[in-house]
Amino acid sequence: MKLNKLDQIRAAEAKLLIPTYDRNPILFVGGEGVHIVDENGTKYLDLLSGIGVNALGYNHPVVVETIARQSRALIHTSNLYFHEGQAELALRLTAQTGLDRAFFSNTGTEAWECAMKLARAYAGLKRSEGVNLGTKFLALEQSFHGRTFGAVSTTYKEKYREPFAPVVPGVEFVRFNDVADLRAKFSTEVCAILVEAIQGEGGIRPLTQEFFAEARALADSTGALLIVDEIQAGMGRTGKWCAYQHYGIQPDVTTLAKPLAGGLPLGATLCTEEVARAFHPGMHGSTFAGGPLATAVAIAVIDHIEKENLLAHATEVGDYFQSKLRELASRHSAIPSPIIAVRGKGLMLAAELDSADLAKLTVAEMLKRRILINCTSDTVLRFLPPYILERAHVDAAIAALDEIFTEHAGVVSAAHSAATTQGGQTHG
Ligand SMILES: Cc1ncc(COP(=O)(O)O)c(C=O)c1O
Repeated sequence: MKLNKLDQIRAAEAKLLIPTYDRNPILFVGGEGVHIVDENGTKYLDLLSGIGVNALGYNHPVVVETIARQSRALIHTSNLYFHEGQAELALRLTAQTGLDRAFFSNTGTEAWECAMKLARAYAGLKRSEGVNLGTKFLALEQSFHGRTFGAVSTTYKEKYREPFAPVVPGVEFVRFNDVADLRAKFSTEVCAILVEAIQGEGGIRPLTQEFFAEARALADSTGALLIVDEIQAGMGRTGKWCAYQHYGIQPDVTTLAKPLAGGLPLGATLCTEEVARAFHPGMHGSTFAGGPLATAVAIAVIDHIEKENLLAHATEVGDYFQSKLRELASRHSAIPSPIIAVRGKGLMLAAELDSADLAKLTVAEMLKRRILINCTSDTVLRFLPPYILERAHVDAAIAALDEIFTEHAGVVSAAHSAATTQGGQTHG
Protein backbone atom coordinates (compact mmCIF):
# COMPACT_ATOMS: atom_id res chain seq x y z
CA MET A 1 0.00 0.00 0.00
CA LYS A 2 1.35 3.43 -0.95
CA LEU A 3 1.62 5.77 2.03
CA ASN A 4 0.32 9.31 1.65
CA LYS A 5 2.69 12.21 2.25
CA LEU A 6 1.70 12.71 5.89
CA ASP A 7 2.14 9.01 6.67
CA GLN A 8 5.52 8.98 4.94
CA ILE A 9 6.67 11.92 7.02
CA ARG A 10 5.28 10.38 10.21
CA ALA A 11 7.11 7.14 9.53
CA ALA A 12 10.35 8.95 8.72
CA GLU A 13 10.15 11.16 11.81
CA ALA A 14 9.35 8.16 14.01
CA LYS A 15 12.59 6.60 12.82
CA LEU A 16 14.82 9.64 12.53
CA LEU A 17 13.90 12.23 15.17
CA ILE A 18 14.76 12.10 18.84
CA PRO A 19 11.28 11.54 20.27
CA THR A 20 10.38 14.81 22.02
CA TYR A 21 7.06 15.70 20.37
CA ASP A 22 3.67 14.03 20.27
CA ARG A 23 2.29 15.69 17.14
CA ASN A 24 -1.27 15.85 15.85
CA PRO A 25 -1.53 14.02 12.50
CA ILE A 26 -1.86 17.08 10.26
CA LEU A 27 0.61 18.31 7.66
CA PHE A 28 0.52 22.10 7.42
CA VAL A 29 1.81 23.69 4.25
CA GLY A 30 0.56 27.29 4.22
CA GLY A 31 -1.64 29.92 5.76
CA GLU A 32 -3.43 33.19 5.23
CA GLY A 33 -4.57 35.63 7.89
CA VAL A 34 -5.90 33.77 10.93
CA HIS A 35 -6.11 30.49 8.99
CA ILE A 36 -3.47 27.80 8.59
CA VAL A 37 -3.84 25.39 5.66
CA ASP A 38 -3.05 21.68 5.46
CA GLU A 39 -1.75 19.62 2.53
CA ASN A 40 -5.30 19.07 1.24
CA GLY A 41 -6.09 22.78 1.20
CA THR A 42 -8.25 22.52 4.34
CA LYS A 43 -8.29 25.75 6.35
CA TYR A 44 -8.07 25.75 10.14
CA LEU A 45 -8.95 28.74 12.32
CA ASP A 46 -5.80 29.11 14.40
CA LEU A 47 -6.56 30.27 17.95
CA LEU A 48 -3.11 29.23 19.15
CA SER A 49 -0.89 30.97 16.54
CA GLY A 50 2.03 28.57 16.90
CA ILE A 51 1.85 28.88 20.72
CA GLY A 52 1.59 32.63 20.79
CA VAL A 53 4.07 33.39 18.01
CA ASN A 54 2.29 34.41 14.80
CA ALA A 55 1.00 37.75 16.07
CA LEU A 56 0.09 38.99 12.58
CA GLY A 57 -1.24 35.60 11.46
CA TYR A 58 -0.01 33.89 8.30
CA ASN A 59 1.46 35.27 5.09
CA HIS A 60 1.24 38.83 6.38
CA PRO A 61 2.67 41.21 3.78
CA VAL A 62 4.67 43.14 6.40
CA VAL A 63 6.44 39.96 7.52
CA VAL A 64 6.83 38.41 4.07
CA GLU A 65 8.08 41.58 2.39
CA THR A 66 10.51 42.42 5.17
CA ILE A 67 11.95 38.90 5.03
CA ALA A 68 12.33 39.17 1.24
CA ARG A 69 13.93 42.61 1.37
CA GLN A 70 16.25 41.93 4.29
CA SER A 71 17.30 38.47 3.09
CA ARG A 72 18.39 40.00 -0.21
CA ALA A 73 20.44 42.54 1.75
CA LEU A 74 21.94 40.60 4.69
CA ILE A 75 20.81 37.57 6.70
CA HIS A 76 23.67 37.04 9.16
CA THR A 77 26.82 38.81 10.31
CA SER A 78 27.61 37.40 13.83
CA ASN A 79 27.95 39.70 16.81
CA LEU A 80 31.56 40.55 15.96
CA TYR A 81 30.34 43.42 13.76
CA PHE A 82 27.60 46.03 13.63
CA HIS A 83 24.42 45.85 11.57
CA GLU A 84 21.44 48.17 11.41
CA GLY A 85 18.88 46.16 13.39
CA GLN A 86 19.86 45.80 17.06
CA ALA A 87 20.04 49.43 18.19
CA GLU A 88 16.84 50.30 16.34
CA LEU A 89 14.94 47.38 17.84
CA ALA A 90 16.40 48.07 21.29
CA LEU A 91 15.14 51.66 21.00
CA ARG A 92 11.60 50.36 20.52
CA LEU A 93 11.80 47.66 23.21
CA THR A 94 13.28 49.94 25.85
CA ALA A 95 10.49 52.46 25.19
CA GLN A 96 7.85 49.70 25.43
CA THR A 97 9.20 48.04 28.58
CA GLY A 98 10.40 51.14 30.49
CA LEU A 99 13.86 49.51 30.75
CA ASP A 100 17.19 50.81 29.52
CA ARG A 101 19.20 48.12 27.76
CA ALA A 102 18.63 44.96 25.69
CA PHE A 103 20.41 41.70 24.96
CA PHE A 104 19.10 39.67 22.02
CA SER A 105 18.84 35.88 21.89
CA ASN A 106 17.12 33.33 19.67
CA THR A 107 14.40 31.86 21.88
CA GLY A 108 12.46 32.38 25.07
CA THR A 109 14.51 30.02 27.13
CA GLU A 110 17.73 31.78 26.08
CA ALA A 111 16.26 35.16 27.02
CA TRP A 112 15.51 33.64 30.43
CA GLU A 113 19.01 32.19 30.79
CA CYS A 114 20.38 35.68 30.21
CA ALA A 115 18.04 37.09 32.88
CA MET A 116 19.20 34.46 35.39
CA LYS A 117 22.86 35.04 34.59
CA LEU A 118 22.34 38.80 34.93
CA ALA A 119 20.80 38.27 38.39
CA ARG A 120 23.70 36.13 39.63
CA ALA A 121 26.30 38.48 38.13
CA TYR A 122 24.53 41.54 39.52
CA ALA A 123 24.39 40.00 43.01
CA GLY A 124 28.13 39.30 42.70
CA LEU A 125 28.76 42.90 41.71
CA LYS A 126 26.70 44.16 44.65
CA ARG A 127 28.59 41.87 47.03
CA SER A 128 31.84 43.33 45.72
CA GLU A 129 30.37 46.74 46.61
CA GLY A 130 29.64 45.60 50.16
CA VAL A 131 25.94 44.69 49.84
CA ASN A 132 24.72 41.50 51.51
CA LEU A 133 23.04 39.60 48.66
CA GLY A 134 23.05 35.85 48.05
CA THR A 135 22.60 33.66 44.97
CA LYS A 136 19.17 32.12 45.53
CA PHE A 137 16.23 32.42 43.13
CA LEU A 138 12.61 32.44 44.27
CA ALA A 139 10.36 31.12 41.49
CA LEU A 140 6.64 30.39 41.62
CA GLU A 141 4.71 27.17 41.71
CA GLN A 142 3.16 26.36 38.29
CA SER A 143 5.77 28.58 36.59
CA PHE A 144 7.19 27.79 33.15
CA HIS A 145 10.37 29.51 31.98
CA GLY A 146 11.78 27.11 29.38
CA ARG A 147 13.76 23.94 28.83
CA THR A 148 17.46 24.79 29.04
CA PHE A 149 19.15 23.94 32.34
CA GLY A 150 18.76 27.30 34.06
CA ALA A 151 15.24 27.83 32.79
CA VAL A 152 14.10 24.31 33.61
CA SER A 153 15.52 24.68 37.12
CA THR A 154 13.09 27.56 37.67
CA THR A 155 10.19 25.73 35.99
CA TYR A 156 7.88 24.22 38.57
CA LYS A 157 6.61 20.93 37.19
CA GLU A 158 8.80 18.11 38.37
CA LYS A 159 8.32 16.12 35.16
CA TYR A 160 10.34 18.78 33.29
CA ARG A 161 13.19 18.85 35.82
CA GLU A 162 13.43 15.44 37.41
CA PRO A 163 14.87 13.40 34.46
CA PHE A 164 17.77 15.86 34.22
CA ALA A 165 18.66 16.12 37.89
CA PRO A 166 20.72 17.62 39.33
CA VAL A 167 19.44 20.86 37.82
CA VAL A 168 20.88 24.31 38.64
CA PRO A 169 20.95 24.61 42.43
CA GLY A 170 19.65 27.52 44.46
CA VAL A 171 16.01 27.67 43.35
CA GLU A 172 13.10 27.64 45.79
CA PHE A 173 9.43 27.64 44.77
CA VAL A 174 6.86 29.90 46.40
CA ARG A 175 3.17 29.04 46.48
CA PHE A 176 1.35 30.94 43.73
CA ASN A 177 -0.08 34.26 44.94
CA ASP A 178 0.69 33.33 48.56
CA VAL A 179 2.09 36.51 50.11
CA ALA A 180 2.87 34.85 53.46
CA ASP A 181 4.88 32.09 51.74
CA LEU A 182 6.76 34.71 49.68
CA ARG A 183 7.62 36.68 52.83
CA ALA A 184 8.68 33.52 54.67
CA LYS A 185 11.02 32.40 51.90
CA PHE A 186 12.52 35.81 51.12
CA SER A 187 15.82 36.87 52.71
CA THR A 188 19.11 38.52 51.80
CA GLU A 189 20.07 35.09 50.39
CA VAL A 190 17.75 35.84 47.43
CA CYS A 191 19.26 37.48 44.35
CA ALA A 192 16.01 37.56 42.35
CA ILE A 193 12.29 36.91 42.51
CA LEU A 194 11.09 35.36 39.25
CA VAL A 195 7.50 35.69 38.07
CA GLU A 196 5.22 35.68 35.04
CA ALA A 197 2.66 38.51 35.44
CA ILE A 198 0.16 36.07 33.92
CA GLN A 199 1.31 32.47 34.03
CA GLY A 200 0.99 30.92 30.58
CA GLU A 201 1.72 27.20 30.66
CA GLY A 202 0.53 27.23 34.29
CA GLY A 203 -3.04 27.86 33.08
CA ILE A 204 -3.37 31.60 32.25
CA ARG A 205 -3.23 32.61 35.90
CA PRO A 206 -2.67 36.29 36.73
CA LEU A 207 -0.67 37.39 39.76
CA THR A 208 -2.73 39.28 42.31
CA GLN A 209 -1.90 42.96 42.69
CA GLU A 210 -1.02 42.30 46.34
CA PHE A 211 1.43 39.49 45.57
CA PHE A 212 3.12 41.36 42.72
CA ALA A 213 3.45 44.54 44.82
CA GLU A 214 4.89 42.55 47.72
CA ALA A 215 7.45 40.92 45.41
CA ARG A 216 8.51 44.40 44.23
CA ALA A 217 8.71 45.72 47.81
CA LEU A 218 10.70 42.74 49.11
CA ALA A 219 13.18 42.95 46.24
CA ASP A 220 13.58 46.70 46.88
CA SER A 221 14.20 46.07 50.57
CA THR A 222 17.47 44.18 49.89
CA GLY A 223 18.53 45.18 46.36
CA ALA A 224 17.44 41.82 44.91
CA LEU A 225 15.95 41.89 41.41
CA LEU A 226 12.34 41.46 40.33
CA ILE A 227 12.43 39.60 37.01
CA VAL A 228 9.23 39.31 35.00
CA ASP A 229 8.97 36.71 32.22
CA GLU A 230 6.85 38.25 29.45
CA ILE A 231 7.72 35.64 26.86
CA GLN A 232 4.10 34.50 26.52
CA ALA A 233 2.17 37.50 27.84
CA GLY A 234 4.31 40.31 26.42
CA MET A 235 4.58 42.15 23.10
CA GLY A 236 0.98 43.33 23.15
CA ARG A 237 -0.89 40.05 23.59
CA THR A 238 -2.76 41.28 26.67
CA GLY A 239 -3.54 44.69 25.15
CA LYS A 240 -0.47 46.38 26.66
CA TRP A 241 3.11 45.88 25.53
CA CYS A 242 3.88 44.12 28.83
CA ALA A 243 1.43 42.36 31.11
CA TYR A 244 3.12 43.93 34.17
CA GLN A 245 1.88 47.31 32.91
CA HIS A 246 -1.66 46.28 33.91
CA TYR A 247 -0.36 46.34 37.50
CA GLY A 248 1.68 49.54 37.36
CA ILE A 249 4.69 47.55 38.60
CA GLN A 250 8.08 47.98 36.97
CA PRO A 251 10.55 45.05 36.97
CA ASP A 252 14.36 45.31 36.94
CA VAL A 253 14.59 42.74 34.17
CA THR A 254 12.09 41.34 31.68
CA THR A 255 12.20 38.75 28.91
CA LEU A 256 10.45 38.72 25.54
CA ALA A 257 10.32 36.18 22.72
CA LYS A 258 7.44 34.32 21.04
CA PRO A 259 5.67 37.03 18.90
CA LEU A 260 8.63 39.40 18.88
CA ALA A 261 9.67 38.75 15.27
CA GLY A 262 6.29 37.69 13.85
CA GLY A 263 7.27 34.01 13.48
CA LEU A 264 11.06 34.15 13.22
CA PRO A 265 13.01 33.01 16.28
CA LEU A 266 14.08 35.98 18.41
CA GLY A 267 14.28 36.63 22.14
CA ALA A 268 15.24 39.67 24.17
CA THR A 269 16.25 40.38 27.75
CA LEU A 270 15.73 43.95 28.91
CA CYS A 271 17.16 45.46 32.09
CA THR A 272 17.85 48.72 33.88
CA GLU A 273 21.05 50.70 33.42
CA GLU A 274 21.95 49.72 36.98
CA VAL A 275 21.62 45.96 36.34
CA ALA A 276 23.44 46.16 33.01
CA ARG A 277 26.57 47.15 34.95
CA ALA A 278 26.89 43.46 35.83
CA PHE A 279 27.82 42.39 32.29
CA HIS A 280 30.86 43.35 30.30
CA PRO A 281 32.05 42.13 26.88
CA GLY A 282 32.74 38.41 26.82
CA MET A 283 30.45 37.47 29.74
CA HIS A 284 27.51 36.48 27.55
CA GLY A 285 26.80 36.11 23.84
CA SER A 286 25.41 34.11 20.95
CA THR A 287 26.41 33.42 17.36
CA PHE A 288 23.00 33.84 15.73
CA ALA A 289 21.19 36.10 18.16
CA GLY A 290 19.72 39.42 17.10
CA GLY A 291 20.74 38.95 13.48
CA PRO A 292 19.82 41.36 10.69
CA LEU A 293 16.88 39.28 9.44
CA ALA A 294 15.08 38.64 12.74
CA THR A 295 15.60 42.19 14.01
CA ALA A 296 14.38 43.76 10.75
CA VAL A 297 11.19 41.69 10.94
CA ALA A 298 10.67 42.53 14.63
CA ILE A 299 10.97 46.26 13.88
CA ALA A 300 8.47 45.93 11.01
CA VAL A 301 6.03 43.91 13.18
CA ILE A 302 6.19 46.46 16.02
CA ASP A 303 5.69 49.36 13.61
CA HIS A 304 2.70 47.58 12.11
CA ILE A 305 1.17 46.84 15.53
CA GLU A 306 1.50 50.54 16.35
CA LYS A 307 0.26 51.80 12.98
CA GLU A 308 -2.82 49.56 13.03
CA ASN A 309 -3.48 50.12 16.74
CA LEU A 310 -3.47 46.38 17.34
CA LEU A 311 -3.08 46.71 21.12
CA ALA A 312 -6.49 48.39 21.30
CA HIS A 313 -7.81 45.77 18.90
CA ALA A 314 -6.45 42.92 21.06
CA THR A 315 -8.17 44.48 24.08
CA GLU A 316 -11.48 44.94 22.25
CA VAL A 317 -11.67 41.50 20.60
CA GLY A 318 -10.21 39.88 23.74
CA ASP A 319 -12.90 41.43 25.95
CA TYR A 320 -15.54 40.24 23.48
CA PHE A 321 -14.02 36.72 23.46
CA GLN A 322 -13.92 36.64 27.25
CA SER A 323 -17.54 37.81 27.57
CA LYS A 324 -18.63 35.12 25.10
CA LEU A 325 -16.77 32.45 27.09
CA ARG A 326 -18.54 33.61 30.24
CA GLU A 327 -21.90 33.51 28.44
CA LEU A 328 -21.07 30.00 27.28
CA ALA A 329 -20.27 28.96 30.84
CA SER A 330 -23.59 30.22 32.13
CA ARG A 331 -25.51 28.77 29.15
CA HIS A 332 -24.23 25.33 30.09
CA SER A 333 -24.68 25.78 33.80
CA ALA A 334 -27.70 23.44 33.81
CA ILE A 335 -25.60 20.47 32.67
CA PRO A 336 -23.81 21.45 35.10
CA SER A 337 -21.29 23.72 33.41
CA PRO A 338 -18.20 22.14 31.98
CA ILE A 339 -16.46 25.53 32.41
CA ILE A 340 -15.41 26.21 35.97
CA ALA A 341 -13.45 29.42 35.31
CA VAL A 342 -12.68 31.93 32.56
CA ARG A 343 -9.43 33.87 32.89
CA GLY A 344 -7.03 36.12 31.02
CA LYS A 345 -6.50 39.51 29.45
CA GLY A 346 -6.70 40.66 25.85
CA LEU A 347 -5.93 37.75 23.58
CA MET A 348 -4.38 35.56 26.27
CA LEU A 349 -7.42 33.64 27.46
CA ALA A 350 -8.41 30.41 29.15
CA ALA A 351 -11.48 28.40 29.94
CA GLU A 352 -10.80 25.95 32.72
CA LEU A 353 -12.88 22.79 32.42
CA ASP A 354 -13.92 20.47 35.18
CA SER A 355 -11.95 17.45 33.97
CA ALA A 356 -8.82 16.56 32.03
CA ASP A 357 -10.79 14.01 29.94
CA LEU A 358 -13.23 16.68 28.86
CA ALA A 359 -10.43 19.13 28.06
CA LYS A 360 -8.70 16.54 25.89
CA LEU A 361 -11.93 15.65 24.15
CA THR A 362 -12.76 19.32 23.55
CA VAL A 363 -9.38 20.02 21.91
CA ALA A 364 -9.86 16.96 19.65
CA GLU A 365 -13.45 17.95 18.79
CA MET A 366 -12.35 21.51 17.99
CA LEU A 367 -9.70 20.07 15.68
CA LYS A 368 -12.39 18.02 13.89
CA ARG A 369 -14.22 21.33 13.41
CA ARG A 370 -11.00 22.84 11.99
CA ILE A 371 -10.22 25.09 14.95
CA LEU A 372 -6.85 24.93 16.69
CA ILE A 373 -6.65 25.40 20.47
CA ASN A 374 -4.68 23.52 23.07
CA CYS A 375 -4.90 22.40 26.64
CA THR A 376 -2.43 23.41 29.31
CA SER A 377 -2.22 22.31 32.94
CA ASP A 378 -4.44 19.28 32.09
CA THR A 379 -7.79 21.06 32.35
CA VAL A 380 -7.29 24.53 30.87
CA LEU A 381 -8.32 25.32 27.29
CA ARG A 382 -5.92 27.99 26.09
CA PHE A 383 -6.51 30.66 23.44
CA LEU A 384 -3.53 32.65 22.10
CA PRO A 385 -4.83 33.80 18.71
CA PRO A 386 -3.16 36.21 16.28
CA TYR A 387 -3.75 39.88 17.12
CA ILE A 388 -5.69 40.26 13.86
CA LEU A 389 -8.54 38.08 15.15
CA GLU A 390 -12.04 39.46 14.50
CA ARG A 391 -15.34 39.02 16.35
CA ALA A 392 -16.65 36.68 13.62
CA HIS A 393 -13.80 34.25 14.39
CA VAL A 394 -14.68 34.38 18.08
CA ASP A 395 -18.33 33.63 17.22
CA ALA A 396 -17.25 30.60 15.18
CA ALA A 397 -15.14 29.28 18.06
CA ILE A 398 -17.88 29.83 20.63
CA ALA A 399 -20.47 28.11 18.39
CA ALA A 400 -18.13 25.11 18.06
CA LEU A 401 -17.56 24.92 21.83
CA ASP A 402 -21.29 25.24 22.42
CA GLU A 403 -21.96 22.34 20.07
CA ILE A 404 -19.26 20.19 21.68
CA PHE A 405 -20.49 20.80 25.23
CA THR A 406 -24.07 20.06 24.12
CA GLU A 407 -23.15 16.89 22.21
CA HIS A 408 -20.96 15.62 25.01
CA ALA A 409 -23.17 16.58 27.90
CA GLY A 410 -22.90 12.96 29.11
CA VAL A 411 -19.14 13.24 29.38
CA VAL A 412 -19.55 16.59 31.04
CA SER A 413 -21.95 15.27 33.64
CA ALA A 414 -19.87 12.18 34.32
CA ALA A 415 -16.71 14.27 34.54
CA HIS A 416 -18.45 16.76 36.73
CA SER A 417 -19.79 14.23 39.19
CA ALA A 418 -16.38 12.52 39.26
CA ALA A 419 -14.76 15.90 39.96
CA THR A 420 -17.26 16.83 42.65
CA THR A 421 -17.12 13.45 44.38
CA GLN A 422 -13.33 13.83 44.45
CA GLY A 423 -13.74 17.25 46.01
CA GLY A 424 -13.09 19.12 42.72
CA GLN A 425 -14.20 22.70 42.12
CA THR A 426 -17.63 23.43 40.69
CA HIS A 427 -18.83 26.34 38.64
CA GLY A 428 -19.59 29.56 40.47
C1 LIG B 1 6.51 32.27 30.03
C2 LIG B 1 7.46 31.48 29.17
N1 LIG B 1 8.77 31.56 29.38
C3 LIG B 1 9.66 30.89 28.63
C4 LIG B 1 9.24 30.05 27.61
C5 LIG B 1 10.25 29.33 26.77
O1 LIG B 1 10.27 29.85 25.49
P1 LIG B 1 10.91 29.01 24.26
O2 LIG B 1 10.02 27.84 24.04
O3 LIG B 1 10.96 29.98 23.11
O4 LIG B 1 12.28 28.60 24.70
C6 LIG B 1 7.88 29.93 27.36
C7 LIG B 1 7.40 29.00 26.32
O5 LIG B 1 6.29 28.55 26.31
C8 LIG B 1 6.97 30.65 28.15
O6 LIG B 1 5.65 30.55 27.96
